[in-house]
Amino acid sequence: MILPDSKVEIVRHSNKVVYDLGDKIAKVFSEDKPVSDVFNEALNLARINECGIRSPKAIEVAKVEDAGWALVTTKVPGVTLAEKMAAEPGRFYEYLEQFVNLQIEVHSYRCPLLPRQTDKYSRMINSLDQINASTRYDLLQRLDGMKMRRRVCHGDFNPSNVIVGDDEQLYVCDWAHATQGAPAADAAMTYLLFALQDKQQADAYLELYCEHADEAVQVVRGYLPIVAASELARKRGGKNDEFLMSWIDVFDYQ
Ligand SMILES: Nc1ncnc2c1ncn2[C@@H]1O[C@H](COP(=O)(O)OP(=O)(O)OP(=O)(O)O)[C@@H](O)[C@H]1O
Ligand SMILES: [Mg+2]
Repeated sequence: MILPDSKVEIVRHSNKVVYDLGDKIAKVFSEDKPVSDVFNEALNLARINECGIRSPKAIEVAKVEDAGWALVTTKVPGVTLAEKMAAEPGRFYEYLEQFVNLQIEVHSYRCPLLPRQTDKYSRMINSLDQINASTRYDLLQRLDGMKMRRRVCHGDFNPSNVIVGDDEQLYVCDWAHATQGAPAADAAMTYLLFALQDKQQADAYLELYCEHADEAVQVVRGYLPIVAASELARKRGGKNDEFLMSWIDVFDYQ
């Protein structure tokens, strides 16, 4: 495919650029991104579309001329909850409530063909070279001891992945890390993503999630070393690595 000159850049990361193509969105990955990962994100999204969760629709996966592979989806006109929270800090708790309720709604779905969360976390823990074999063993034991669940988990549920549509409905984008598994693990990942930015917001999120989902805070906290290890394995890098290592250590010996 050839990207139109009218494209507008929405966000640029080291390994991808997301463009607004007018009525569509193209997520264009760098050339070293394995094509199977791009098809995998498209497949996850297609499965999410089919199970009825409000989200952009998958349109195509195509090689971009002189660039890497792209995932093209329908565009949801609107603004993200992250933008709303930043623009109106006084309404943070109101938006947080919408965010938590949406996550709990996502967790109410089943999608039996999505990858299994335990497989994904085991693979990520095993791929970590920053931690020794004994710590990896402890993390895998901890994962193994968790109650088996099979609910749709987004895997990267944060306010930048929730779009408040012009139709006032909430839509969830960015399903690259979707699995079927334990909602508490998904909540632990969200807590961690908040905590990387703002500990107070993270604590407010966790309290609200546990209250609305009727989940014990200890269960969510029990997943923190696992999701920290998984986030570390994504190699997003930077100053967060030290913080993630401390989450793994703190909980490893409790
Ligand atoms: N279908 C869509 N409609 C409207 N806006 C979108 C859509 N898809 C993505 N966006 C916008 O682009 C931003 C980035 O897209 P996306 O979340 O898919 O990628 P990413 O966060 O860069 O990826 P990753 O989390 O995998 O690093 C979103 O936060 C949102 O603002
Ligand atoms: Mg995103």
